[in-house]
Amino acid sequence: MLKQVQQTARKTALEAGALLRQNFTQPHQIMLKGRHDPVTESDFQSQNLIIQRLSETFPTYRFLAEEAGAPDSALGGSDGCWIIDPLDGTVNFAHGFPMFAVSIACQWQGAVVYGVVYDPMREELFEAIQGQGAWLNHQPIHVSHHRELDQALLATGFPYNVVEHLEATMLRFQRLVAQAQGVRRPGSAAIDLCYLAAGRFDGFWEENLKPWDTAAAVLIVQEAGGQVSTFDGLPHDLNSDTVVASNSLLHTQILAALKI
Ligand code: IPD
Ligand code: CA
Ligand code: CA
Repeated sequence: MLKQVQQTARKTALEAGALLRQNFTQPHQIMLKGRHDPVTESDFQSQNLIIQRLSETFPTYRFLAEEAGAPDSALGGSDGCWIIDPLDGTVNFAHGFPMFAVSIACQWQGAVVYGVVYDPMREELFEAIQGQGAWLNHQPIHVSHHRELDQALLATGFPYNVVEHLEATMLRFQRLVAQAQGVRRPGSAAIDLCYLAAGRFDGFWEENLKPWDTAAAVLIVQEAGGQVSTFDGLPHDLNSDTVVASNSLLHTQILAALKI
């Protein structure tokens, strides 16, 4: 079953990514879901393609897809469930900033067993199978070995409702900017987490991410030897409000900096 999941999801991520790459240079139709929360025609086109392809091979699996408005109760059942972000990095995409990805995870009996994140502009495909490892374009990847924040390159993101928690978000950001070698805010949480898995970043934190932002990439981090928790250091799950991911060596230091 896992082989078929991997083959189908990987092929679908490549196909949806090619569609996004093709649409990237065309004019976009931009609608707003919230004041700072856009969605484009390409989010929907990518999602339709992904759902169609996956359901051809897995007709009984359920879907939790960002633009489908499916209820969260779709998660955690005993059958298979696909968790999909058809375009992670919509703000970047809409502005012509070439940093965005397709993210597809397969959940089986409540656990994410496979995840793929595809960055079509760099043609980088990150994937992981539960218990079997993580790969970038078929090559095994591993988190970094940096032990000190002074040497660490971190990434973060700001949720669409950041104004509701601006003070706390900025205090955390300020502390880590002061302690790390560098902090980046690339604009695709799925890519941020995969860069951590590949050793390009040493740590990542963000609040209010949704299951489709993290499902595939968290498995990729874990399978690359990284550690993932909430801001409180508790185990992270798909419904967690906060996420901290690291190369595991820096986890305690990042948690301490985030504590308010
Ligand atoms: C967003 C991106 C961004 C993160 C936001 C997410 P979207 O996803 O992952 O990096 O900071 O919190 O919502 O809306 O582009 O799919
Ligand atoms: Ca997203
Ligand atoms: Ca999205």
